[in-house]
Amino acid sequence: MDRIAVLDFGSQYSHLICRRIRDASVRAELVPHDTPAAEIGPEARGIILSGGPASVYEDGAPLPDAGIFGLGVPVLGICYGHQVIVDRFGGKVKRANREYGSARLTVDDGGDLLGGLGGGTRAWMSHGDEAEAVPAGFSVIGHTGAAAAAAIADRDRSVYGIQFHPEVAHTEGGAAVLENFAVRICGARREWTMEAFVEESVRKIGATEGGILCGVSGGIDSTVAALLIHRAAGGRLACVFVDNGLLRRGEADGIEAMFRDNFGVRFHRVDAAGRFLSRLEGVADPEEKRLAVGEEFAAAFSEFAEANGPFRWLAQGTLYPDVIESGVSKGPASVIKSHHNVGGLPEDLGMGVLEPLRDLYKDEVRRVAAVLGVPEGLIGRHPFPGPGLAVRVMGEVTAEKLRICRDASAIVEEELEKAGLYREVWQAYAAVGDDRAVGVVGDERLYGRVVTVRVVDSVDAMTADWTRLPHGVLEAVSNRITNEVDGAAWVTYAVSSKPPSTIEPQ
Ligand code: XMP
Repeated sequence: MDRIAVLDFGSQYSHLICRRIRDASVRAELVPHDTPAAEIGPEARGIILSGGPASVYEDGAPLPDAGIFGLGVPVLGICYGHQVIVDRFGGKVKRANREYGSARLTVDDGGDLLGGLGGGTRAWMSHGDEAEAVPAGFSVIGHTGAAAAAAIADRDRSVYGIQFHPEVAHTEGGAAVLENFAVRICGARREWTMEAFVEESVRKIGATEGGILCGVSGGIDSTVAALLIHRAAGGRLACVFVDNGLLRRGEADGIEAMFRDNFGVRFHRVDAAGRFLSRLEGVADPEEKRLAVGEEFAAAFSEFAEANGPFRWLAQGTLYPDVIESGVSKGPASVIKSHHNVGGLPEDLGMGVLEPLRDLYKDEVRRVAAVLGVPEGLIGRHPFPGPGLAVRVMGEVTAEKLRICRDASAIVEEELEKAGLYREVWQAYAAVGDDRAVGVVGDERLYGRVVTVRVVDSVDAMTADWTRLPHGVLEAVSNRITNEVDGAAWVTYAVSSKPPSTIEPQ
């Protein structure tokens, strides 16, 4: 299959470049920045050099194998990759004023790479260096107020450089730039489909040996992972659902019914609510909670495996955003949150880890789910964090706070469904912490909990904005929570975006 090789110089957006190229139905693969040219392979129709935190003029700056420029395929540098190209072809890169955020990109030549952007667009910049002198043979095809050479091209050698980040959603028309490169300039065929992904995954998983234990949470990620493995490995797969007592209202029974009635896989339910909740007693720190939940999951799986094994593999529905935010990818992105299904596994698990969705984003998983015949109701269900309500209850997890969180969240979901907005938003829930406020119920004073409603829009969970819900919907949510949820005195609405906030409060 034709593909584009993306050399990773450590930008937190490197993987997103692959993602955007896949959106154009072209296969993309992220490889280390110093991958030898000989290993890039004949299917690579083009090479992209990602951004990264280094400066090309510093000693030891990471560089690609010079041989990649002799492979006879087009090369595109993005941000740091752009500077690598400027430097390599004899131009000059200098330290500049740091430029972060949106800038107006003027298109000087929309002949190929920047085709479809018209005269210009808003482009996302994030750099501290810039091209001062453009190498001989290159022409400037785009500029911004701060960067005279924001986009350059040498069409004879088919080498391109852009200072801005076309891969982030904030660059309008950015996806078109990457599509222009992959399809127009490199001539890569559009062979990447979700059917192709399923086929390839089934082939890879089918080549493993031994029993596979798949933890399922009822969420779309682990369900899709389980069905993919079931297709590849049939009776070698056993699905285990650990009810940790931290799920949404009615969820555990719903999950059991779905697996038993619809999917025909081996399904086991382990009731572990008591053990999770006692482990969480007295734990208030978010990271400690996440790790505690992760360890309990791993312990529950290990025990199950010992009693029902042997299993050679533990499978999970880990997605790419879980990997990057936990800081376990090769790049330098710092740990933001330890997503439990990535960070919590002990080294001596005694099983290999199988993560067939590790390169995908949520919306891609939804498309795989459709290919696998997952019920529509599950495909459209909002994402739910692995540590469950433990991260929506701020501070110590207590029975009272869990009940308030669960009941208030159910109200938020119901009111959004009623307003026809549930499918329109990325996530919607209520969180509760230790803050209290005074209310008056009937003639009684209530010193109750402050419940925070959070509803966000997002495309990939990497960034998110709070949803401008109609006031009538907010009013209905608030009225119902204060009326129906015992102990809830106030309702607030979270109006911070990601970044700087995250989607979950802990
Ligand atoms: P944050 O809160 O980091 O969340 O902005 C980004 C997305 O990831 C979900 N999330 C998790 N998913 N395990 C998961 O499987 C986790 O530990 C976890 N923590 C957060 C969150 O719901 C949002 O969609």
